[in-house]
Order: sequence, then C-alpha cells, then structure tokens
Amino acid sequence: MSGELSPIDKAKFVAARQAAEFVESGMRVGLGTGSTAAWLVRCLGEKVREEGLRIKGVPTSTRTAELARDVGLEVISLDEAKWLDLTIDGADEFDTELSLIKGGGGALLQEKIVATASDQMIVIADAAKEVRMLGGFPLPVEVIPFGWQSTQALVEEILISMDVMGRQATMRMNGDRPFVTDEANHIIDLHLSRIGNPRQLSMVLNQIPGVVENGLFIDICDKVVIGHSDGRVEVRDINEGTVTESQLDFVEDENLFRDI
Ligand code: 5RP
Repeated sequence: MSGELSPIDKAKFVAARQAAEFVESGMRVGLGTGSTAAWLVRCLGEKVREEGLRIKGVPTSTRTAELARDVGLEVISLDEAKWLDLTIDGADEFDTELSLIKGGGGALLQEKIVATASDQMIVIADAAKEVRMLGGFPLPVEVIPFGWQSTQALVEEILISMDVMGRQATMRMNGDRPFVTDEANHIIDLHLSRIGNPRQLSMVLNQIPGVVENGLFIDICDKVVIGHSDGRVEVRDINEGTVTESQLDFVEDENLFRDI
C-alpha cells in the first residue's frame, strides 16, 4: 500500500467492514459497484480467506466481478442464484426515508435488478452522502442508444411538469464518445438540484420508451450503514426504526489494502 488512506476512504472502509458483519455463511449476496462497494468486496474476501465464510456473490458490474474473483469470492450470475438473501451496495445520495440516487458509476440497471431480487438491501456510505432532499447529485437515466437524442428531448419535456429545481440533461461521455454501460446503453445525467417527488419522477421517467431505468431507488433500501473517518459507524434500519452506533478500530491491513 502506498501512503495512508484518505479520510473519505477510511469512512467508506469502516462502513463496508461493519456491513460485512451482516453476511453469513450460505448466503447469496448481491455485490454493488463503486469505491465503497469495492471495500465491501475486499472485506468479504478477507472473511472467506481467514474465517472460512462460504458465500456466493452476484456482482452488479464487470468491474465488481473482476475484483470479487481476485479476492477469492465465488461468483455466480443472478440467473444462477435466482433470488438473493442480501445485497450490499454504495449510493450517491440517501435521504431520511432511505430513498437513493445511484448510478454515478454507471451500473444502476444491474444494481437495481440485483437489489430488487434480494430479501434485503443494505447501503454503505460515508456521511457526506446523506441529504435532506435528493437531487444535488445528477440523476442518471439509462437509455438505449437507438434514438437517444429523441429520448433526451422527451425527458427534458416531462421535466417541465415535474417538481424539480433544475432541468439540464447531459449525455454522459467517456472521452469524446458517449459512455457505454455493461448493458450497452448510454446514460443521460439530469441536473435537477432538488427532487420534490422522487416516486412520481421515477415512474414518469420509466414510461418513456427509450428509457431503460433511472437511478432513483425508492422502497428498496432497508438499512444504511454510515461510516465516519474516525471509525464511528451508524446503522439505521428503516423497517425496525432503530439506530445503532459503534466504533471500529482502524488498523491498516496490508493484505486487504494490497491493490490500493
Ligand atoms: C454505481 C453506484 C455507486 O454505488 C455510487 O456511485 C457510489 O459510488 P462510491 O461508493 O464510489 O461513492 O451507484 O453505479
């Protein structure tokens, strides 16, 4: 490992480490995508190697699949698993009802399919991801490449009648070409600043024919595990209405951090 982890990475790491405690042998586990989810995958790899944890992981992207195999997790497809006990994933924003914006890493479609096919979804996040109202983070909308400009125009038109503050829609780029998802689609990012009615917006967006899915996750997340850079971790359970706090010792583990 080169140098110490940044405060934000420490926060992500402790959230992931705490969430890994919810994973039990025999479970089929959805593995999210992004930097926080990558910590989770590494923590699970460590538990497999050192504690004999036996799980089957269903990755939500090719990136996560690669990392999961690298750290020694057994990887299966969602079709092989059919249904999952638990999915653990990061988020770009979460609110007090545990509604989420996801898709900053471009994997929202597989992430939503996997989370929805799970008994339980746990979000892991650093404290900066908590917001009073969703929308500060641009909302990703996955669209099929065919006729994407017409789809974008329709999205912009429906935004006029939605309770949002901004209305700018931009095609996500990868260099000078549109970004391509694992499902060979594109992503349009909606710069809304504030989303007054996430449920309504999600339903209306998904009615546009070229839209495959959007990054609003409503009534999907059950728990959020919030990490802080000093090792404090808070677990909020929306179904139980409980909040628990703990303190994790932060010991930099050469084995866990070897690919950083
Ligand atoms: C990927 C996602 C990620 O969970 C989200 O972007 C958070 O990423 P990170 O943990 O790197 O902050 O939705 O599509």
